Amino acid sequence: MRILVPSSSANLGPGFDCFGIAWQSRNEIFFDRSDSLSIEGCAVEYANSVNLAWLGYSKAMELAGRKCEGVHIRFGKTEIPICRGLGSSAALSAAGAAAADALFGLGLGRQGILDAATAVEGHPDNVAPAIYGGLTASMMDGERAITVNFPLHEKLHFTALIPDFQLSTAMARSVLPKSVERADAIFNVSRGALLLNALGSGDLELLGLAMDDKLHQPYRWGLIRGSEEARSIARDCGAAALCISGAGPTILCVSEDESFTPRVREALQGVLPGWEVRELRIDREGVKVEE
Ligand code: HSE
Repeated sequence: MRILVPSSSANLGPGFDCFGIAWQSRNEIFFDRSDSLSIEGCAVEYANSVNLAWLGYSKAMELAGRKCEGVHIRFGKTEIPICRGLGSSAALSAAGAAAADALFGLGLGRQGILDAATAVEGHPDNVAPAIYGGLTASMMDGERAITVNFPLHEKLHFTALIPDFQLSTAMARSVLPKSVERADAIFNVSRGALLLNALGSGDLELLGLAMDDKLHQPYRWGLIRGSEEARSIARDCGAAALCISGAGPTILCVSEDESFTPRVREALQGVLPGWEVRELRIDREGVKVEE
């Protein structure tokens, strides 16, 4: 069985652990029934029971009340970079849960796949777009994740500035304060609500104002070497709004103009030559299962 699962950007500024968008850069993973666990096609340190595709798979089996001893996993084409803030871990958890559901006819559907993958990830913001596609907002109701899709205007153009180094989510979460000021909470809640409207209507001016955050980005920019230069270049090249993609280190830029991507690629090359500039196209389907 072949699973195609999209990359994603979580948070989108104010929607910490809540908002996400799925992108067409995908991972291809094959799953076959087996009595023991075997994994091929990935780095040797992930070819064991810590692999998130396996964790998503076994969690889905557990939620369905089924015994699970193994599975054969083979990684095919891999387009999602690891630990760059583009949802690589969520994609694996979602793919594993979707594979278990399909291989055994568990009847979990997207909601059950979401619950299994969220249990592995700890938060639903990346797994939701990886499963449903498009722009999603999610919340937890106890153990259950609730996700809603929102419209995303066609004219918005997205570009990822991907650094040449990794940043683990655990590291990027460890720098965040345990509690927040009320004023900062209001700052994010109000921007989060208006951001959804701006993404749906394509209002770039509102987007530029609403894609701001006080809960995580102020603590994380310092972990991203070169981010100050990259942000300044992106603004000079015409980015209407930008934010950290997920936990970083990738920077997500929004523009109206498709020519932004080659422009920022050229400008960044001279200053941060190792960074990849990638045009992002919206994935509207989510995880796909092929028998
Ligand atoms: N919302 C998460 C974070 C995304 O920013 O830490 C990465 O898993």
